[in-house]
Amino acid sequence: MNMSVLGFFSFFVFFLFAPSLCRVPSEIHLGAEPEHASTPPRGWNSYDSFCWTVSEEEFLQNAEIVSNRLKPHGYEYVVVDYLWYRRKVPGAYVDSLGFDVVDEWGRPIPDPGRWPSSKGGKGFSEVAKKVHSMGLKFGIHVMRGISLQAFNANTPILDTIKGSAYEESGRQWRAKDIGLKERACAWMSHGFMSVNTKLEAGRAFLRSLYLQYAEWGVDFVKNDCVFGDDLDVDEITFVSEVLRNLDPPILYSLSPGASVTPAMAKEVSGLVNMYRITGDDWDTWRDVLSHFDVTRDFANAKMIGATGLLGRSWPDLDMLPLGWLTDPGSNEGPHRTSNLNLDEQRTQMTLWAMAKSPLMFGGDLRKLDETTYNLITNPTLLEINSFSLNNMEFPYISSTSSRRKGRVLPQDSAEGSMLGKRALGLTTCKDAKANGWSTKALDQDLEQVCWREKSEEPPCLYKRKPLLASGEEMIYKQQYKGTLHLLASDGMELCLDASQRRRLTSKEFGGGSFSRCKWDANQMWELNANGSLENSYSGLCATVDLVKDDASSSEIRSWIATGRRGEIYLAFFNLNLEKTVISANLADVAKVFPWKTMKGVSCKYHEIWSGKSGVTEQLISIAVEQHGCSLFVLTCV
Ligand SMILES: *[C@@H]1O[C@H](CO)[C@@H](O)[C@H](O)[C@H]1NC(C)=O
Repeated sequence: MNMSVLGFFSFFVFFLFAPSLCRVPSEIHLGAEPEHASTPPRGWNSYDSFCWTVSEEEFLQNAEIVSNRLKPHGYEYVVVDYLWYRRKVPGAYVDSLGFDVVDEWGRPIPDPGRWPSSKGGKGFSEVAKKVHSMGLKFGIHVMRGISLQAFNANTPILDTIKGSAYEESGRQWRAKDIGLKERACAWMSHGFMSVNTKLEAGRAFLRSLYLQYAEWGVDFVKNDCVFGDDLDVDEITFVSEVLRNLDPPILYSLSPGASVTPAMAKEVSGLVNMYRITGDDWDTWRDVLSHFDVTRDFANAKMIGATGLLGRSWPDLDMLPLGWLTDPGSNEGPHRTSNLNLDEQRTQMTLWAMAKSPLMFGGDLRKLDETTYNLITNPTLLEINSFSLNNMEFPYISSTSSRRKGRVLPQDSAEGSMLGKRALGLTTCKDAKANGWSTKALDQDLEQVCWREKSEEPPCLYKRKPLLASGEEMIYKQQYKGTLHLLASDGMELCLDASQRRRLTSKEFGGGSFSRCKWDANQMWELNANGSLENSYSGLCATVDLVKDDASSSEIRSWIATGRRGEIYLAFFNLNLEKTVISANLADVAKVFPWKTMKGVSCKYHEIWSGKSGVTEQLISIAVEQHGCSLFVLTCV
């Protein structure tokens, strides 16, 4: 098939007939535009159960079940996760090169082996049509920028306005003109790289991708390797601009979210509808635990339901790895059940609900068991998730269990740390908190870069001394002019790395680490005049945070929110390894909701997991299982 003819034709189809041919708007809106993503989006995503290997048949079977069983509970998006363009043949895996199906404009198209309806240049349009006919919305995962495969093939760029190859200044622009090889996706370095959005040709390429997705009937894009450690504000900004002009709109989601801070998120939250705030979440207790602090910080920064693209935006705690699953980075479909026990699963669902995270179920629905079904469709949790307000961590709780004595701390509650009890954090350079670095000369040719800290021994790194300049080193020196390698100690060739050697999935890591020194943008740092230390790969700035001593860190947590009928939701989480009695005083509720009079009131309570109900005027108290939670609905008069 002649793709350039198709490209030309589809341009006209899109602009002239798109609303009538592709999708029919569900309502006629007069006056104000409806708010996009007005509540946290809900749906199913193929990643936790199929990794990248899902087929059209498996996908549509799952969509059918979403439509029949989950749609009545608000689950409406069905999303194909990454590498739908990769041929599933021996040798192909998550970071393999050369197995992708790419059109003549360098754009990924579905692998016809796994997505037979895409044959003949149809892309995902047949799948989208079927999904729409089930009353659902269709989503796809996309990576940053352009693939290395298209870059190597130096494909021309489609000019969607002319319907032909993009030309400027009398020449045809190609993939190698716009791809930024030094900004390859850190966790899929043979996969994708950023494109230069300062060039009109780079913008034309991104536009050609997203207009094609719209043409296929895509309602949701999960844009990966552009956020967190991989932040690419330029690409997010431009993609958002393209999406803003589409009708019907496409929901814009960012991933992953390792090292994300509220300050970083504020740069982009208005451009998107949801964004991850942690690395990948899998079915381990450690992963569940890692969401409590960051979620609290985003709630305190008033980011839940803040202004987003054509509506609202939501901090995303990642998919729910419950039910029938596969493993991260696997070449295999689902083959095991979730490793979380029921208490841990309830804790996860309850935190996700109380924090108003998007709820994207990850298990294979063809093997959905009743317990999991009841959990993900629990009406109280879904009511809280969609409609509660004033969601925040509630600090006024106490535990009355016997403290652990002489017990070994659980391994899985210790987060990675470095620099002693400190951890390297990465945040946007616009955050004044990052302006904490200065140089300190030790002797004539030994300099340190130190972090301000009111302690006797503030953390310091060593500037790496210039090496003998071999030919290759000279080239790199030119490229990384003005930047530094920073050593953990003098004499040891271990350099500060903003992105430790990652697993091939976007799995969370400790925030940074030291690795063997090399000329890698992740290891290059620039000390700015204002004291910020900027990483050459991501443009993020380093901070040093004290890591809480594990033994003293709080092992119980609570969240609170108000309901739309005047009720109060109060959740207790027991992060301990033993059953713990957790209590809160009704009077303290007024400390977080000052407009609520709690004096002399009497509250009816109902705890949803135990079914316990009663009336109290003072204390709410309950024994909570290890890693479990309680959720009270309070109606006070
Ligand atoms: C510090 O300087 C850098 C580089 O000039 C700049 O990008 C950043 O916004 C500045 N940060 C603050 C908080 O002023």
